Amino acid sequence: MAPVARFFVLVPLILALVSFVLTSLTLFAGNKQGFMEDYAVVRLNTSMIGRNLLDKAKDGGKDAGKSGSAKDGLLGDIKNWWDDAKGGAKDQINGIKGAAADKLAGKLGVSQWYSLHIMDSCEGNWSPNATALEPSLNVTNCTASSPSHRLNLTEMLDHELKVGPLKLNLADLDWPDSIQDKLDVLNDALMALFVVYVLAVGFSGLSMFLNLGAFLLPGKAGLVPLNLVVGTLGGLACIIGTLIVAVAGPKGVREINDKGARVGISAERGIKFYIVSCIATGFMLGVAMFWLAQFLALRRKNKAEPSPGEKEEKEEKEAC
Ligand SMILES: *[C@@H]1O[C@H](CO)[C@@H](O)[C@H](O)[C@H]1NC(C)=O
Ligand SMILES: *[C@@H]1O[C@H](CO)[C@@H](O)[C@H](O)[C@H]1NC(C)=O
Ligand SMILES: *[C@@H]1O[C@H](CO)[C@@H](O)[C@H](O)[C@H]1NC(C)=O
Ligand SMILES: *[C@@H]1O[C@H](CO)[C@@H](O)[C@H](O)[C@H]1NC(C)=O
Ligand SMILES: *[C@@H]1O[C@H](CO)[C@@H](O)[C@H](O)[C@H]1NC(C)=O
Repeated sequence: MAPVARFFVLVPLILALVSFVLTSLTLFAGNKQGFMEDYAVVRLNTSMIGRNLLDKAKDGGKDAGKSGSAKDGLLGDIKNWWDDAKGGAKDQINGIKGAAADKLAGKLGVSQWYSLHIMDSCEGNWSPNATALEPSLNVTNCTASSPSHRLNLTEMLDHELKVGPLKLNLADLDWPDSIQDKLDVLNDALMALFVVYVLAVGFSGLSMFLNLGAFLLPGKAGLVPLNLVVGTLGGLACIIGTLIVAVAGPKGVREINDKGARVGISAERGIKFYIVSCIATGFMLGVAMFWLAQFLALRRKNKAEPSPGEKEEKEEKEAC
């Protein structure tokens, strides 16, 4: 490689370095409580969970007569609480928005949001409150569940409701099982994402070292195809990861929103996570393109004139 061309190698070196850092960060986001929490793959907003209970309570126990006595007491509890809250904010008309509704999750003992990361799931509350314009995330707990089932929302909510102030269970909320079915599809996608991202981190890291090698040893022609192969594998892993996020993410979110609306659950894709994985993909593809160009140039050169090494070999053979 010519001396000037040698410094061009710094470009893929930096691209591979950035890609390595970004894929590592997205892989480890949420791994420690509060670490890059806003880079979740998907986040469930549960601040209005149990809104159907609220409607029942507001109906003044119309349903209550039909159900068991335990439930009567429960609805009575919520109704009292609701009436108190309304007393404090008289101008609220249908009450679903605003101060009382914002405290619904806390009243039931559950978190206001649950997030899915590649390596674990977290939960917490919106700060200052769920209806603020751009609330920040207050993380209360993260769990490293088994890789194939990041978030068993059914189990978590049921547990939290049982130990919560009202001692409910999911059945009281008329919880549709289909929400967990949709979450399980997302959980499977996360498992695939985990594998692909480990490969992406590995290949982009290796690519970084091979680019450094190519910079330090510009004469080594063997590094060109090696860089091409590793860079391409890194780019492929990144593309597959981004595709999984781009396809499974919106689909899962849409379905959870469909099933969850009635019980007050909504889901949202992590836009920041998506943007970062797109950048990492673009950069790794840049590395692969650079080495493809180098590889083609090298081949053309080798065809036009045998490299000095080959010439020497020929001369040696002739000398023998
Ligand atoms: C939520 O927080 C915002 C910003 O602090 C505040 O203006 C708003 O009144 C709060 N809403 C409720 C329901 O407390
Ligand atoms: C986060 O939550 C904890 C406990 O719920 C609370 O003490 C703390 O003030 C919250 N932090 C913010 C920034 O809201
Ligand atoms: C969470 O959901 C509630 C009710 O659907 C909504 O009012 C609130 O704006 C949402 N909060 C965030 C931060 O998305
Ligand atoms: C965090 O979650 C785990 C599993 O759900 C639970 O065992 C643990 O008690 C929780 N920790 C806190 C501080 O809530
Ligand atoms: C989720 O938790 C529930 C209740 O503990 C359990 O029945 C179910 O098998 C769990 N699902 C998965 C996929 O682990």
